[in-house]
Parts: sequence; structure tokens; C-alpha cells
Amino acid sequence: SDSDPLQDFCVGDLKASPSINGFPCKSAVSASDFFFSGLGAPLNTTNANGVAVSPANVLTFPGLNTLGLSMNNVEFAPGGVNPPHSHPRATEAGVVIEGSVFVGFLTTNNTLFSKVIHAGEMFVVPRGLVHFQWNVGKGKARLITAFNSQLPGSAVLPSSLFGSNPTIPNPVLTKTFRTDDVTVNKLKSMFAV
Ligand code: GLV
Ligand code: MN
Repeated sequence: SDSDPLQDFCVGDLKASPSINGFPCKSAVSASDFFFSGLGAPLNTTNANGVAVSPANVLTFPGLNTLGLSMNNVEFAPGGVNPPHSHPRATEAGVVIEGSVFVGFLTTNNTLFSKVIHAGEMFVVPRGLVHFQWNVGKGKARLITAFNSQLPGSAVLPSSLFGSNPTIPNPVLTKTFRTDDVTVNKLKSMFAV
């Protein structure tokens, strides 16, 4: 869903300030600008969610500038959860490379569409909708995801709501979640950055 390019390519010059839609073009370009080796690197999933994501987007792979797409490598420990999040600028497609993953997204009417899928199977998440994945297999799991944006953005609900800087005032969160300050403070302490 990014804008259409008006030239063959425009490898991003990340040292320049981003302009209205991406980065200015780098002047000297070579083959290495169009290849990226980072997507297969093993990731450390020893963290609270049991998940790790490594992105190949314009910031890590500047050859993607103006090309309207990007990818992620997502690895899960057993039981790992990629928490509910949305990409404001892209539809997402994904393929399971290893393991068994419960994949779900929510419509704007709060219908949950979900399925457990296995290696070789694909899913799609319409642009902007909240979605998540959960490794339901015995071993680790791995996905490759793809986006129709060079920088899809990711609004991760738990950290947006409880880990912002500065934080959202407690009265907003206690009322929103029909709960008390103790609960809100506990959640804030877990997501503080
Ligand atoms: C998975 O949802 C991803 O954003 O890579
Ligand atoms: Mn996603």
C-alpha cells in the first residue's frame, strides 16, 4: 500500500533525514544494496513472551526504499506468543516455516478469525487489524511474514497501553478496563520502558 515508485529503485540513504515518503536515494549503488542476509539468523526467544522478531524493512535493508514491501523473521519458543498488535501501513501475509502456530486476527466488529496452521501453510492479516500468533506445538516455531510497505509500523497493544512514555493517566486505564489502580500499576510496572 506504499506509493508507487517513479524510477527503478531508490536505495535509501539512511544518513539523510527521512523525507515525506521514505529516504532520499543513495548516489553510489551496488549489487550488495539489493541483498540482505539477516533473515535467517537464529534469534533468542528467552524473554517474557517467548518470541523474537527480526525485520527486513527499509531501516535494516535500505534497498527496499520505495519498493513497497518488507519481511520479518519471527521465532517462537514452545508456548511463545507474539502479542496482539497491528500494522497501520500494511497488510501482512505469513508462512509457517517450522512448527504449529495458532494465528488469529480481529475484525473491527470484534470477530476473531483464527486457525492452527503448520509448516508450509500461509495466513493473511488485512491492513491495520489487530492480530497475534501463539506457538501451540511441542517444539519451537518459526514464521516468515511479508508486508506491502517498506516500513509497516507496529502498534503493540500491551506496550502502547501500559508501557508508553509518558504513561497514560491511571483514571483513563482504570475506567477503560473497569479495574483499579493496583491492577493498572502492576501492568504499568511490567511494560515500563
Ligand atoms: C507478525 O505478526 C509480524 O508482524 O511479523
Ligand atoms: Mn504482525
